[in-house]
Amino acid sequence: MNDVQSDLAQLTRLALAEQTEDVRLFVARLVRKYRSTDPDLAERMNLYLRTKAPRAALMRKVASAPISSAQPLPVDDESRLSLLKVFKDGPDREQPLLALDLEETLSQLIQERRQAKRLASMGLNPTRSAIFVGPPGVGKTLTARWVASQLDVPLYVLDLTAVMSSLLGRSGSNLRTALDFAKRSPCVLLLDEIDAIAKRRSDDADVGELKRLLTVLLQEVDEWPATGLLLAATNHAELIDPAIWRRFDLVIHFKVPEMPAVKQAIKRFLGSDHALFSRWIDILTFVFHGESFSDIERDIQRFRRTVALGRASDTDLIEEFIKSRAFVPGRTVMERQGRIELAVLLSKQTHMSQHTISDITGVSRDTIRKYTSEQSTAAKKTSKGKPDNSS
Ligand SMILES: Nc1ncnc2c1ncn2[C@@H]1O[C@H](COP(=O)(O)OP(=O)(O)O)[C@@H](O)[C@H]1O
Ligand SMILES: [Mg+2]
Repeated sequence: MNDVQSDLAQLTRLALAEQTEDVRLFVARLVRKYRSTDPDLAERMNLYLRTKAPRAALMRKVASAPISSAQPLPVDDESRLSLLKVFKDGPDREQPLLALDLEETLSQLIQERRQAKRLASMGLNPTRSAIFVGPPGVGKTLTARWVASQLDVPLYVLDLTAVMSSLLGRSGSNLRTALDFAKRSPCVLLLDEIDAIAKRRSDDADVGELKRLLTVLLQEVDEWPATGLLLAATNHAELIDPAIWRRFDLVIHFKVPEMPAVKQAIKRFLGSDHALFSRWIDILTFVFHGESFSDIERDIQRFRRTVALGRASDTDLIEEFIKSRAFVPGRTVMERQGRIELAVLLSKQTHMSQHTISDITGVSRDTIRKYTSEQSTAAKKTSKGKPDNSS
C-alpha cells in the first residue's frame, strides 16, 4: 500500500468504529502532512475540521492549565477527569538522589536528546522509550519529572487509574486520545503505574477490553516518534507482561537507597534543621537503611514538625523513634546483630547512658560493654600497632 492508501484505510477504520475524536486527530495530522505538498487538500480538510464543532467535552479547554500550551488537554468524555496531569518545571529543579549507574544512564538519555542532531547526522535515533522499575517511593515519578525539566519540555503523566476507571469500552479511545495528544508536541509522557492494566487483567473484568488496551499501548511504544520521550513506571515488575518489557528501548531499575544515599537523603530532607539534628545523622542513617526515600522523608518531616512545635526534644524524639524501629519487646523488629551494631554506634556517638541504650536496643549492658571494649581494643591495636593492656 502506498502512503495515501494507508491513510485512507486508517481513516476508514476510525470512522467506522465511530471514534470521532480519533478521526479528528487523524485529520488534523493529515492537514499538517499535506500542507506543503497539497495545500488545496489540506485547506479543504482543515475547513471540515473547523465547521463541525468538536465534541465540547472532549476538546474542552482546561481553563487554568498550568502551562502555556496552545493545545487543550484531553479529557475523558464521561468522567470529565483530565487524563493527563501536567508538570512544567524549570531546569533548576533539584536532581533526585540516584545511584551512580542510574545517574550515568539518565545522563546519557538526556545527552542523546540534547544532541539529537548530531546523532541524526550519523543515522542514529535517540532512545525513544524507557521503563522505570522498582519499589514504591524511590523516585520513579520524581525522576521522570526531573528528566523533563532537564529537556525543557513539559511532563505529561497519564493516570492509568483514571483511564481504567472510565467506562470500560471507552478506555481504549481515551488512551488513544491522550497518547495522540502527547505525540503532537515535544514532551515527556509518563505512563505511571502501568501495572494498573496488568492488575486489572488478572482479576477479572472485561478481559477483551483490557487486551485491547494493552494492544493500543504496545503499538504506541513501538511507534513512538523520536521527537518525544515515552516513559513508563511500575512498582510491580512481576505483573508486567514480558511483551511490554521487550518493547521499551531501555529498562531502568530503581532500588531502595544504599547507606551513603540514605545519609544524603536525611540531610536533604532535614533542610534548614540540619544543624539541630546533626549529631543524630549517623544513627538515623543506620536505622533508616533499607527504607524508601519517601518513607524516610515522611519521618524526617514529622521530626521537624514535632521539634518546631516544641512538643519534644530532639533527644526524646530520636530515642523513641529508634526504640520503635529496633526493639519492641515481644516482637522482632531488627535482627540481634543489627541491634548490637546500633548499640555500639549509640554508645560511641551519643551521651546516652548504657542503661538507656540497653532499653532502646534490647541489648544487655554486658553485651554492649563487651562489644565497645572489643572495638576500642581493636582500634587501639591498629592505631598504635601494639596490644592495649589497660582494659
Ligand atoms: N531518589 C529520590 N531523591 C529524592 N527524593 C526522593 C527520591 N525518591 C523519592 N523521593 C521522595 O519521595 C517522594 C515520592 O517519590 P516518587 O517519585 O513518587 O516515588 P515512586 O514513583 O518511585 O513511587 C518524592 O516526591 C520525594 O519527595
Ligand atoms: Mg510513582
